[in-house]
Amino acid sequence: MADKRTSAYNPVTGEVLTDLARILGPSGVSSDPEKRTAYSLDDTLPRFEGEYLAEAICFPESTEQVSRVMKYANDNRIPVTPRGAGTGLSGGAVPFRGGIALATERMNNILEIDMANRTLTTEPGVVTAEITKFAKGANLLYAGDPCSGDISFIGGNVAENAGGNKVIKYGATGAHVLGLEAVLPDGSVVTLGGKRRKDVTGYDLIRLIVGSEGTLAVVTKIILNLLPLPKCVTDMLVPMPTIESATNLVSAITTMGGVIPTSVEFMDRKSIQNVEEYASMSIPFSDAGAQLIIQLDGMDRKSLWNDVERVGDICAAEGALEVFVAEDRNARDRVWRIRRLVAEEEWTGSMPLLSKEDIVIPVGGISDFFKLLPEISQRHRAIYNAYGHIGDGNIHLTLFPEAAESGDDLAASAESLRRELYEAVRELGGTLSGEHGVGLKKKYTGIFLSKAHIALIKRVKAAFDPNNILNPGKIVE
Ligand code: MLT
Ligand code: ZN
Repeated sequence: MADKRTSAYNPVTGEVLTDLARILGPSGVSSDPEKRTAYSLDDTLPRFEGEYLAEAICFPESTEQVSRVMKYANDNRIPVTPRGAGTGLSGGAVPFRGGIALATERMNNILEIDMANRTLTTEPGVVTAEITKFAKGANLLYAGDPCSGDISFIGGNVAENAGGNKVIKYGATGAHVLGLEAVLPDGSVVTLGGKRRKDVTGYDLIRLIVGSEGTLAVVTKIILNLLPLPKCVTDMLVPMPTIESATNLVSAITTMGGVIPTSVEFMDRKSIQNVEEYASMSIPFSDAGAQLIIQLDGMDRKSLWNDVERVGDICAAEGALEVFVAEDRNARDRVWRIRRLVAEEEWTGSMPLLSKEDIVIPVGGISDFFKLLPEISQRHRAIYNAYGHIGDGNIHLTLFPEAAESGDDLAASAESLRRELYEAVRELGGTLSGEHGVGLKKKYTGIFLSKAHIALIKRVKAAFDPNNILNPGKIVE
């Protein structure tokens, strides 16, 4: 493993470990080699195993402990990389410069549900699905719904501004954040926002910290907005003959449907067929060009059903091969299982990979993107499958070499392919990442952001973190 620590930073010595144990207690810090490896990875493919390695892992249990660790690291110039459950897909939680991995898993309490204000206050190490469940128990909706929600932590969702399946109607994680408590790199603690729903007293630093990929502050408390729980939910699985007809259907629903669907998800033929093979299951119309999942929710069954019928008519008019309507929990779970298995198959897949993308394009440009994609991939001798949150223009694209032979320079092929792909995305008004973050794809930010924009990002980073100790090496460096 190359030593990625630069002379700007100091190593984690035995003395540092003793000092950290004084702050966190002996069980609050570890330099165990297996743990160091485990806490240096995320779910990015290809994995960074062995490439970057934390020198120690800290397990704080309170804001005060986070603050003391940060102050110590800042005073001693030791890099700190915060991490949640490690389900990220951009390398955001990978300790690029070594140093300390700051695990939030022991800060795992839901602190309060406030019915009068319809808010939930939580620590960062709580699993997202637990929050959804807790809110549901109070007849309320936490509308953040990342695909990895069964295992991801809310703190990681905030750090990456995780999107997922309900963004089209309810917005990404940041749309639900009303308040934050955060520890700055020098150890000072700030409280931003609160339970109020309006606030223009000063800059909107919440919006800046949400999605900053753990580079500006360590979030230690989160106040989330909850919504009334929809009483009825329906999912429709809609096979379409071609990708083009599927993309036309998306714009027809969102412009002419008269409803805002909760989700419009997309899986191309290859994604569906990968799932069939991976899970040994048979999916109807698996040779269709693409399948969409359209979710509608509401308070009243009759009016929801009217919406379902209207959307069903639009699907038929746009050439749907079938419209499967799933109303009960089991049928709906079956539909979403297919979608979740697309991502799972990829995490566990062993094929050599060129690149895994999280691009986002204004919805009006998606058809054009799918017209360009086959040419671009052919030019680079790549094959791909595409899926994702097409209702908000966020496409996950996984690209593989058409025929990989040992000795092929996959990194070089990925590089030229990515550059051409990104130029096309930019021309369509799109950008590099919709929900997973830039993380270690930082060398491509210059394709999408102007020099002035990048310089501003660097000045903001320096204002928060003048010694560059918090998650160094991410986003623009
Ligand atoms: C998804 O939408 O399934 C997730 O973002 C995970 C992934 O892209 O693999
Ligand atoms: Zn996604």
